[in-house]
Amino acid sequence: MRDFILRARKGPSSPDFSLDDLGRAGHMEIVAHCITNALFYSLNIRAGVRVHIVFDGPAAPPKTVRIESDGLGSLGGFDERALAGVIKQALQAGLHLSLEEEVQALDGVYVAKRSFESLVRDFSVRGAFYTMQKRGSDIRDLEFAEDAAFVFSDHLSMPKKADRFLIRLGAQPLSVGPKMLFASQCITLVHNELDRQGLA
Ligand SMILES: C[S@@+](CC[C@H](N)C(=O)[O-])C[C@H]1O[C@@H](n2cnc3c(N)ncnc32)[C@H](O)[C@@H]1O
Repeated sequence: MRDFILRARKGPSSPDFSLDDLGRAGHMEIVAHCITNALFYSLNIRAGVRVHIVFDGPAAPPKTVRIESDGLGSLGGFDERALAGVIKQALQAGLHLSLEEEVQALDGVYVAKRSFESLVRDFSVRGAFYTMQKRGSDIRDLEFAEDAAFVFSDHLSMPKKADRFLIRLGAQPLSVGPKMLFASQCITLVHNELDRQGLA
């Protein structure tokens, strides 16, 4: 299983955002690009991928939406608006959750009232666990396992405190190359390197 954990620092944690202005909704278009690159390739859905998006923005943080490629229903398209619409539906379903409670919003789509710290703490005891940083170990120098989790921030830097927390949990800093890329571009590169290692 490949897990991609995106921290959307200003991403809305309640459904009251406009699909007509995704930029104002904490740059939800970045989240949509990450979903596309995590779950899909040409004419196909990847097997065994989960994307977890932690929404830390207004108005009811924290919320974590998880989309699983296995068991995924129709998302209504691959475009930014369609994918942001899926997030909106998930956040609607999660309006009245208690802390750590989770519900299924759609086929393959789940929403939990769960913080970034709680989510990554879980991954730290599950197996290989990487925090994506431009100055991390070169992805081409490492061998990966089938099960691996990769943590990204969106357009905003990961807070220093969270960086330190990830390292304390044992996350290994990992770089896909020398340029600071969009998180969605990093996801494609991670998939590609693992594909080249023959991992499913
Ligand atoms: C657009 S970047 C964040 C830019 C933000 N201003 C900063 O300085 O962190 C989004 C995320 O993608 C990941 N990323 C970007 N370039 C990378 C690289 N070359 N190697 C590994 N991860 C990278 C990091 O997790 C980064 O936080």
